[in-house]
Amino acid sequence: VVFQAPRGTQDVLPEEAAYWVFVEQTARDWAARYGYGEIRTPTFEETGLFLRGVGGSTDIVEKEMYTFRDKGGGELTLRPEGTASIVRAYIEHGMASRPQPVRLFSFVTCFRYDRPQRGRYREFHQWDCEAIGELDPLIDAELIMLLWRVYQALGLRGLTLQLNSIGDEQCRPAYLERLRAYYQPLLPTVCGDCQRRYQTNPLRLLDCKNPPCQAAIAGAPRLLDHLCAACAEHFAALRAYLADADIPVELNPRLVRGLDYYTKTVFEVWPAEAGAQSALGGGGRYDGLVAELGGRPTPAIGFATGIERVILNLKAQGIAPPALPAPRVYIAYLGEAARRAAVHLADQLRQRGVPTLVAVGGRSMRAQLRQANALGVAWTVVVGEDELARGVVQLKPMAGGEALELAPEAAVERLAAGG
Ligand code: HAM
Repeated sequence: VVFQAPRGTQDVLPEEAAYWVFVEQTARDWAARYGYGEIRTPTFEETGLFLRGVGGSTDIVEKEMYTFRDKGGGELTLRPEGTASIVRAYIEHGMASRPQPVRLFSFVTCFRYDRPQRGRYREFHQWDCEAIGELDPLIDAELIMLLWRVYQALGLRGLTLQLNSIGDEQCRPAYLERLRAYYQPLLPTVCGDCQRRYQTNPLRLLDCKNPPCQAAIAGAPRLLDHLCAACAEHFAALRAYLADADIPVELNPRLVRGLDYYTKTVFEVWPAEAGAQSALGGGGRYDGLVAELGGRPTPAIGFATGIERVILNLKAQGIAPPALPAPRVYIAYLGEAARRAAVHLADQLRQRGVPTLVAVGGRSMRAQLRQANALGVAWTVVVGEDELARGVVQLKPMAGGEALELAPEAAVERLAAGG
């Protein structure tokens, strides 16, 4: 048998890793500027956490979870997202007694049994940020600005911030009644999924991608027009902060998100020419989730951005990440004594911070130099038998030019100083 990576998963090879490091470093850098601390939570959790946290009538819980029983009989699920775990940790570790809001970020590997396609995988990675413990719309603005500044720092262009408010327990129930009343006579015209959503999760009616349902969506009442005073005020304040931040906001009354925990603010970031199917990131407020998971009522907001999606957009926009450190020095040699000297010299160079490779396997000098060339090093150090006898090594600049003869200590100094 020849094994392959499972469907919907990917290998990241070294030449690809520079993109990952670029995105992760930029995210870390900006998270620190905004005062976010790192949290790491387990890759799997009790299944019940996601049933309650993400919501029983979401696609994620209904169709996409990797759920299994372990040998002790525990019901576990590979996390489909990061928020539920982070909120669980906030409650479990009594973080309500720290200064609020608690600002947290995490790099999370997520698993969703979805139909794989470009930008959609079964195993994928998110950078997730959460601010737990504050209702002030200033926090909404701060969190969205953090996400936006990271995209900017990466050099991404043409993105828009899709913004909506989906209300709270004060205004949403009445709106949902209104929405149901509107849809009731239209039910024969909409898809089977929407007929189901009408019963289980009417807000998701607005998110249907099926062509026959678009007419119904277009005429549907907008929750934005029916917000209670508190939600409307919150939303207006947020919009004012975002206007000051010079972020291209598109008000999108149809934006509802695919997870059940949201209240008030919801948002996604879309690339120029595609829609929600390819959102780079998304998030929103979840003022009910901490209580839902057994904590005291605590307002919170967060987002996650898919690392693979960000990288796809970097590539599409021709943005190259900074190169990762590559070997700068290759040590070639002939003979057994020279070989020992080469191993010692490489060790000294590495201790001085110079990425160094030594020839292996008894190749000819020609073959060693060919390999040095193929590896793209800046310098080859040649340790020959007679040079060794004379107490020197040869430094060959691979870009061309005169070779130098130096004592090994002097060669180390020179290469450590940059060559
Ligand atoms: P989400 O919209 O489900 O939100 O996922 C956030 C981002 O993860 C998406 O915008 C996308 O970039 C990426 N993503 C989602 N599914 C896939 C997939 N199958 N393959 C590749 N990338 C994917 C959440 O997960 C929420 N927990 C975000 C949040 C945090 N809300 C509040 N706090």
